[in-house]
Amino acid sequence: MGRIDDATVQRILDAADIVDVVSDYVKLRRRGSGFIGLCPFHNERTPSFSVSKTKGICRCFSCGKGGSPVGFIMEVEQMTYPEALRLLARKYNIEIEERELSAEEREAATERESMMAINEFAMQHFERNMLKTTEGQNIGLSYFRERGINDAMIKRFHLGYSMEQRDALYKAAVAAGFKGEYLLKTSLCLQNERGEWRDRFRGRVIFPVFTVSGKVVAFGGRTLRKDKEVAKYVNSSESIIYSKSRELYGLYQAKPEIVRKDKCILVEGYMDVISMHQAGIQNVVASSGTSLTEGQIRLIHRFTENVTVIYDSDPAGIKASLRGIDMLLAEGLMIKVLLLPDGDDPDSFAQSHSASEVEEYIAANEGDFIKFKTRIMLEGTENDPISRSRAINDIVRTISVIPDPMLRTMYIGECSRTLGVSENLLTLQVEKLMAEAAERRAADEQRERLRRQAGIASVDNHPPQAEPQQQRQEAPVVRTEAAKSSPLAPYEREILRYALRYGMLYLGDVVDVDGEVKPFNVIEYIVHEMAEDEICFTSAEFGHVFNEAVRLSRGDWQNDLARFTERQEQQRQQAMADGIERIRQECTDLASIQKAEKVLKERVDAEFDESIDTYTTEYLGRILASSADDTVRTLTVDLVNEKHKLSKIHTKYAHMETERDHLNDLVPMALYNLKAAMIELRICEIQVRIKEVQATSIDEALALMREQKDLEAMKVELARYLGERTISQRRFRR
Ligand code: CTP
Ligand code: MN
Repeated sequence: MGRIDDATVQRILDAADIVDVVSDYVKLRRRGSGFIGLCPFHNERTPSFSVSKTKGICRCFSCGKGGSPVGFIMEVEQMTYPEALRLLARKYNIEIEERELSAEEREAATERESMMAINEFAMQHFERNMLKTTEGQNIGLSYFRERGINDAMIKRFHLGYSMEQRDALYKAAVAAGFKGEYLLKTSLCLQNERGEWRDRFRGRVIFPVFTVSGKVVAFGGRTLRKDKEVAKYVNSSESIIYSKSRELYGLYQAKPEIVRKDKCILVEGYMDVISMHQAGIQNVVASSGTSLTEGQIRLIHRFTENVTVIYDSDPAGIKASLRGIDMLLAEGLMIKVLLLPDGDDPDSFAQSHSASEVEEYIAANEGDFIKFKTRIMLEGTENDPISRSRAINDIVRTISVIPDPMLRTMYIGECSRTLGVSENLLTLQVEKLMAEAAERRAADEQRERLRRQAGIASVDNHPPQAEPQQQRQEAPVVRTEAAKSSPLAPYEREILRYALRYGMLYLGDVVDVDGEVKPFNVIEYIVHEMAEDEICFTSAEFGHVFNEAVRLSRGDWQNDLARFTERQEQQRQQAMADGIERIRQECTDLASIQKAEKVLKERVDAEFDESIDTYTTEYLGRILASSADDTVRTLTVDLVNEKHKLSKIHTKYAHMETERDHLNDLVPMALYNLKAAMIELRICEIQVRIKEVQATSIDEALALMREQKDLEAMKVELARYLGERTISQRRFRR
């Protein structure tokens, strides 16, 4: 699958109408200027999912999910950005050219794409080997037959076979025009000291590893020999396209069923996944023999909150993997475990039972993880108080990572009964562990925050100070609260909101220090003001999104507006022509014709102005809400949709005034608030520091006091500046 070119992406985004797209999933009713329906992302009886046609955005006011047409499809279909684009392209009959790349294009393609392409080629090569060559049929295919794997599964998982010949893949790939460089980078081939090419997989059956969106990023090759001389599995090395800890085997194939059943079953190996799928249990994925990683857990969480882990009843294996489960719990997932009968693994179990037997066994035997862990941990500790209390501590630790307080309480009650320890004691222990974990997190965040603040301080020419350790002892309660995010974040967020929501609107004129008058739109004004005071966003996220908005406002905007205006101009002329035609038919005397034409012109002009104005207002929000960048997309949707109440001062006016009517006060005020908060923050830090050093170093204390005085002066100065830089009478475009 090639990439979609920018022009096509644009055509898809332009064509996708939010009401139309959402209507495929949600029954919408008109409500006011928009539409409303039942949210597809959570269960509800009264509709809170609203769709704005003009903004091109949908949003659930209860659970907060939604977005632009692409964002909505990504969420509802659990797709990646390009997948969602493809779906929309199909819906709107927009052709995406998918073609073989020519030799030159292949050269130009990025490294990642080249590696994916070569993997795709290798996968097909291995599949062909198995089905079309005698060696493949006799060795590879007959192996899968022996293990009871049918043709449908071979196709579904694209199983294959690598020839015994030492360079079969190398030769085929080179003949097909692929470059040795990428054969090395994907670790499909290697070169020995003598410079000879060798295939990595030889005489093995092949299991391709797919990403969640179906790209082949790695292979596992199983030996067919029974002896222990060779490694059972050879796997692709990690590369820029493959990180073992970020993939789950079978997820691509299991995804739809995981969503449908709202549950994911976790097993260990390739064969387990395949046999379970063959038995009709298709919401199964494997961690491929390693213990679970956070990345894999996040991946599961995108599709469901319910995970059942299947263990074969090998006690050593079970104990080793219990740790990984704590991570699943900490991520907020609901975990069940299932123990198979002695001597069975999921593969053998699924092969020796009918689909309904497997289903029934799972339903009857899957049990709560904490209960399971308690049982395992307590085994054999009956007469050993020390190992018993160690086991109890371990279980308590597991309970303490569960984010949901209700669940925690429930488990405490249950464990109290099975462990014979009082609920109070368990609660105390759990709370202690949680406090410790919070401490650790807060300390980490504090360090991070101070690093960011140091960044601000250096702009103001104040050296970064305040050891995290010392501040920690000062005010433990406040610290934990403040550490959650930078104290400046709300101010920065507000500025970003103005930029995204009103960025392209002509704000007014700014009078420079040397008296020059310059027109500015909102976003340029913000850029100018921040540059002048040498401040930037301390939040990397906000900064990133802001930069994207600025880039767009300086890049595509002029062209886009020109194109839009041209289209509107044509429509205006058409509307005029149509109107005049009608007037000529309806009116007879010259006076009424003239009058009617005047009214017509006014109406058409007003419509024209209105459409340009709407386009301008919604430009940044609309485009950035469809960005391929996750941060940009989600933050834009959040900020553009935020309900913002005007202060009472404004609502006392006779007509309904909107935020937009007051941008020339509100935007400078938002910038002022940020600057003032920065100074305030610094003053606070200084005061803390003065208290710390006044007894030990008078000199430092004095220096700090001087600095504080300077800052107080800056505050006054800033307020005065605000007055001077107030934007002159706003002139609207129309
Ligand atoms: N694994 C591996 N390298 C090994 C052994 C195992 O990468 N040397 C991974 C594979 O992903 C394998 C999983 O760990 O699928 C589980 O191992 P195992 O149970 O031994 O393999 P199965 O897939 O069950 O293979 P089989 O049933 O054919 O023995
Ligand atoms: Mn096995």
